[in-house]
Amino acid sequence: MYYDSRPLMNEGTPAKPAEGSGEMLWGFWYPALRSDRLHGRQLQRTTLLGVPLVVGRDGAKKPFALRDICPHRAFPLSYGQFDGALVECAYHGWQFDAHTGQCRHIPSLTADAKLKCDRIYAGSFPCEERDGYIWAFMANAEGRALGPTDVPPPVPELPTFSPRYKIAHLAADLPCSVDHGIIGLMDPAHGPFVHQAWWWRSRRSIRDKAKQFEPIPNGFRMSPHAPSANSAPYKILKLITGEPATTTIDFVLPNQRFEQVRAGRYWLSSRTTVTPIRGDLCRLDFVVAWNILPWFPIVSLIIHVLGPRFIRQDCEVIEKQSLGLAHENRMMLVDDADRQARWYFELKASYLESQRTGQPIRHPLAGPVTLRWRS
Ligand code: FES
Ligand SMILES: [Fe+2]
Repeated sequence: MYYDSRPLMNEGTPAKPAEGSGEMLWGFWYPALRSDRLHGRQLQRTTLLGVPLVVGRDGAKKPFALRDICPHRAFPLSYGQFDGALVECAYHGWQFDAHTGQCRHIPSLTADAKLKCDRIYAGSFPCEERDGYIWAFMANAEGRALGPTDVPPPVPELPTFSPRYKIAHLAADLPCSVDHGIIGLMDPAHGPFVHQAWWWRSRRSIRDKAKQFEPIPNGFRMSPHAPSANSAPYKILKLITGEPATTTIDFVLPNQRFEQVRAGRYWLSSRTTVTPIRGDLCRLDFVVAWNILPWFPIVSLIIHVLGPRFIRQDCEVIEKQSLGLAHENRMMLVDDADRQARWYFELKASYLESQRTGQPIRHPLAGPVTLRWRS
């Protein structure tokens, strides 16, 4: 739930729950696992949106994701054997097609048994590999097959702008609900307090900001602009490339923040996702690609040293915040600094509404808007 700033501050309007607050969004691709965690015919366990998954790769290296619950007696399939095509439950040996979840064999059945085992399915989820992650399309919690006309959208892809580039991945667990994880991601006001460092910014560097935003499908964009002059990495970028940089930041439902920095022919492109694991736990995944001086490790160094430091600072804040959230689940969304958080809640509510009604999403932004805050 959240408070509107003005009515609350001035009139004491009671808190109303935000529609869709805390809910997880079905019908999207989510990163389930890093690609490099899957070796050979190993089965790996993971959880997305509260659903236990067993993930593996078939003989042709194509990944699959099954609900990690045997339909016979709920034994986790991840304890079983995998021969490259069929997953065999370790309890009574039922075998399931790794991609469709269809049951192929029940060892206890006699030759003249009437039961048609191919009518039994383990839950399964469309699964693809992209940008170093295994993605699962979470249409529903049971892993029911999609209808013939329900084709999942393309798997999210990190935009890149030249054939050769470097890529790096970082991850962290966030002990909070997906909403707090996501609004923390788009919150401009915590920077000077949480990410203080002499080479980056401090409380003293707080200044007025005005940024233009525009609606994009399922999200909103901070229009291309010159990067914050008080951030050292951008100064370094300018020094290296000799060209003025522009940065564009998008948020797209359900959980993706894209940031692109372009300076002449140089570019850096990142995506941060906050994926709900359970109601009170998320995983932050950060992937970044760049072509700035690939032969000189300065950017790589910045990313491998500063990236984890930034993420650690955000994690520490969320860990401490969870102490308070255990007692109080209301929040205040105050003016333009929290406007993006408000748009996120509105987009989410519109998405849930459109799923109920079949109508297109009502976008919270009618057109370009300028937001002003100090950070
Ligand atoms: S519980 Fe899986 S085969 Fe019986
Ligand atoms: Fe942060």
